Amino acid sequence: MPKSYDNIQTKLKSSPRTWLITGVAGFIGSNLLETLLKIDQKVVGLDNFATGIQHNLDEVQSLVSNEQWQQFTFIKGDIRNLETCKHACNGVDYVLHQAALGSVPRSIEDPLTTNENNISGFLNMLVAAKDTEVQRFVYAASSSTYGDHPDLPKVEEKIGKPLSPYAVTKLVNEIYAEVFAKTYNFKTIGLRYFNIFGQRQDPNGAYAAVIPKWFAGLIKNETVYINGDGKTSRDFCFIENCVQANLLAATVEDEAATNQVYNIAFGERTTLNELYNLIKERVVDINETAKEAKPQYRDFRAGDVHHSLADISKAKKLIGYEPQFSVKKGLDRAAEWYMKNLGN
Ligand SMILES: NC(=O)c1ccc[n+]([C@@H]2O[C@H](COP(=O)([O-])OP(=O)(O)OC[C@H]3O[C@@H](n4cnc5c(N)ncnc54)[C@H](O)[C@@H]3O)[C@@H](O)[C@H]2O)c1
Repeated sequence: MPKSYDNIQTKLKSSPRTWLITGVAGFIGSNLLETLLKIDQKVVGLDNFATGIQHNLDEVQSLVSNEQWQQFTFIKGDIRNLETCKHACNGVDYVLHQAALGSVPRSIEDPLTTNENNISGFLNMLVAAKDTEVQRFVYAASSSTYGDHPDLPKVEEKIGKPLSPYAVTKLVNEIYAEVFAKTYNFKTIGLRYFNIFGQRQDPNGAYAAVIPKWFAGLIKNETVYINGDGKTSRDFCFIENCVQANLLAATVEDEAATNQVYNIAFGERTTLNELYNLIKERVVDINETAKEAKPQYRDFRAGDVHHSLADISKAKKLIGYEPQFSVKKGLDRAAEWYMKNLGN
């Protein structure tokens, strides 16, 4: 484990803090919850189960001790309601704001709902956290903010024009956070996640992300589709790296590190064709039929960025981020979970 992450976990263990995780029943939120409870933190979780599920919370409960689970308070509620946000923020030291509607295609089909959740909901959370004097507001930003900017690797200060309503919402989040920092001296940190994957990421539904969808397809002998020619590339990042970044961002003491946005990725590019083979190699271990599987290619999706790769040096330097899981190592872990949960 890298030194700064190890140190921070030890420090938190000896003097526990109170955290609010919004979107706690979702993929990233439930992983944050698991780690925080395992280091004896007090956690409040807020979720309206729009895309999150009770089963994710039940799984976390099964992975922590009874005493640790007693430190968790769940609020079923919606960030579109300011009073709910204020109630959730009450007495909280750090907010990890994850609640939002993800997915570029969902936002293209229904920009209004995405806007209400991702912008109005975000603003409610900022106001609530400021008014209740939360010490630090760490929020899920997105690599989609790079939009049509052609440069690779992506560096934080060079962004292009958004390519989808979802990308607009994530850009507006950053603008609001910056304005709250300047206007109210409120401390925020935005983490621009690049294709996070791992245990509890939902494989179901029209808006599922590529890695869970392909694990499910190959495990269940269903057709796996590749949008485009398969040369599209992404900086896939395992969930444990993302959790590490959140804990570091919430607790970093250096003032210069706050009111910033950071790329959170592994810092390597994998094409969809490579990814397909990496997932297939792992699934074949339990489902021999997958050996014969071939992907079907179809059109590129509207709003998708074709190539993505992060420069992660800013997060390394300012918050001490050191991702421990390569794509392969992360896929090994993810495979274990999908096989246990989707295999026979
Ligand atoms: N997974 C990724 O690769 C990725 C990449 C970039 C950014 N992000 C961002 O990270 C965050 C978490 O994403 P995830 O992958 O865990 O998605 P997820 O859908 O699994 O989790 C989102 C959670 O937020 C909850 N939620 C949505 N709207 C809400 C509302 N109005 N009130 C209360 N709860 C609400 C959902 O029920 C769900 O539990 C999101 O903000 C997303 O935009 C994720």
